[in-house]
Amino acid sequence: MFISFEGLDGCGKTTQAAMLAAALELEGRTVVRVREPGGTPIGERIRELLLDGDSVIGGAAEALLYAAARAQLVDQVILPALARGEVVVADRFIDSSLAYQGVARGLGLEQVLQANELATGGLMPDITLLLELPPELAAARRGDTPPDRIESESDGFHAAVAEGFAAAAARFPERIHVVDASGPPRAVLARVREAANL
Ligand code: TMP
Repeated sequence: MFISFEGLDGCGKTTQAAMLAAALELEGRTVVRVREPGGTPIGERIRELLLDGDSVIGGAAEALLYAAARAQLVDQVILPALARGEVVVADRFIDSSLAYQGVARGLGLEQVLQANELATGGLMPDITLLLELPPELAAARRGDTPPDRIESESDGFHAAVAEGFAAAAARFPERIHVVDASGPPRAVLARVREAANL
């Protein structure tokens, strides 16, 4: 089973991915956790390029670099784990590209889906948990750590990302479950498990 978490920077998805993975492991499942961009040696190098505040990257190149990191991850980690019958829990996948590059950067959902077709061979998560938090709350939760190239974009950009996630959820209503990410992590996890029937 392939589960992905999505949402704005600061929405708590890394915490939720870790908590869900731990809960499933306690129940005897073997879980492989991945994060995007990254999770492979090439993917981690692409991550550095993408998040470096000094990088100047056009929208198309940005979408293709995320897709390239995703292609490596699908090929080297996700497909082999799924073939072994393991659960894959991903901290971001294709919906981040739809929201950030498709909507916030203005490339359009269809173009980004097309670029990703080559990267993923059509692989989609079985279930996606979209953690929803108002952009100003997500920004506050990001705290004092220095922002990376994407985090330091304007409030307007992050509002457009939130609209992008809503557009992705409307495009894939059966796969994407919107979960209220406010409140303590344990309460959010309970909502996640209920929404995903896990
Ligand atoms: P992270 O901070 O959640 O690890 O993600 C890195 C940043 O990359 C985050 O600001 C979201 C952004 N991103 C995209 O713009 N497009 C994508 O396809 C992915 C996976 C992440």
